[in-house]
Amino acid sequence: NETKKFRLAVIPGDGIGKEVVREGLRVLDHLAEESNGRFAFESDFFPWGCEYYLENGSMMDENGVEKLKDYDAIYFGAVGFPGVPDHISLWGLRIAICQGLDQWANIRPVEFLPGIPRRLNHPDVDSLNWVLIRENSEGEYSGVGGRNFSGRGPGKEVAVQSSLFTEHGCERIIRYAFDLARTRKRKKVTSVTKSNAQQYGMVLWDEVFVRVSKDYPDVETDQWLVDAMAAQFVLHPEELEVVVASNLFADILSDLGSALSGSLGIAASANLNPEGRNPSMFESVHGSAPDIAGKGIANPIGTIGSASLMLDHLGLTDESKRLDTAIEDTTRQGVLTRDLGGTYSTVQITDAIIKNLSEVK
Ligand code: NAI
Ligand code: MG
Repeated sequence: NETKKFRLAVIPGDGIGKEVVREGLRVLDHLAEESNGRFAFESDFFPWGCEYYLENGSMMDENGVEKLKDYDAIYFGAVGFPGVPDHISLWGLRIAICQGLDQWANIRPVEFLPGIPRRLNHPDVDSLNWVLIRENSEGEYSGVGGRNFSGRGPGKEVAVQSSLFTEHGCERIIRYAFDLARTRKRKKVTSVTKSNAQQYGMVLWDEVFVRVSKDYPDVETDQWLVDAMAAQFVLHPEELEVVVASNLFADILSDLGSALSGSLGIAASANLNPEGRNPSMFESVHGSAPDIAGKGIANPIGTIGSASLMLDHLGLTDESKRLDTAIEDTTRQGVLTRDLGGTYSTVQITDAIIKNLSEVK
């Protein structure tokens, strides 16, 4: 029996990105070791990020996106550090990769792990879990716009930041949401826009949503404006199952979801190219957290959970499920980092997850 080899491109990035990716790789190595030669990971490291930018003037190699194409998956930490403007670092690395590799579906589950202090006062909090599907290729992050239009002086500057919505872009993410809903218990898709105020792009989205929904008569639908949806996350989250929204709105709602479920540090995500033409990228929802970087206290669960999404994507479904269980066991045992009110370090959380993995076969 030959060993199945998975080639990973690893981009730790900046700040706590480096600290949590290291932990995620320890977990992956453990799983590979345990598999007795059934599968293995071969990791290539790419030192891209803000330090790289300060030395080389760009966030990654000139043909960086091209270099990533041959890998089975990309494992990403976070980008952004004081000294490099955030729009440079984000556009130069994360968005460059997501858009360059057409990873148009960003999957962000909101999960309520056991043993974590609840920030949400809800009678049935343990049963809550929903997934945000974020359009990841256009919308508000299309980069269409400009500054410094001619004839304007200091104090009179004008900036234009446009959103771009294409029928194709809306349709593929909405269909993705419906297909996913069919695999889940409740079979419900909630679409989030702001089409009362944004009368072009978001109205197009709404129209596509209604049209596509006709192909899924077995799936329940719901349509919300984003401001009301923010309240719904807090007031009636039991109504949510698959929530599909534009690039910006789902970005904001996913931070809200992760905070409600305990901390930004536990939210995982997958940037998928569902057609499989290009590798997909797995990363936590949080950023590089410069305020806690270098202290060894970052919560690695978001990034380890993203490794679980990667395992599932690579067809290692059992390993993914076992890892999810080991993460749940760890929080249930009260092994928590500071963001969750605990005292354990980044490394200790991983040690506990690995120990629990050995116990869940
Ligand atoms: P952030 O997510 O880095 O941090 C927000 C707050 O949550 C901070 O107080 C931080 O300490 C805490 N936090 C985040 N992750 C944590 C973890 N794993 N464990 C414990 N606490 C955690 O967002 P912020 O502060 O707005 O941005 C910092 C930098 O990260 C900026 O440069 C920003 O552009 C970048 N960023 C990058 C992202 C990416 O690479 N995907 C996503 C979001 C922000
Ligand atoms: Mg975000």
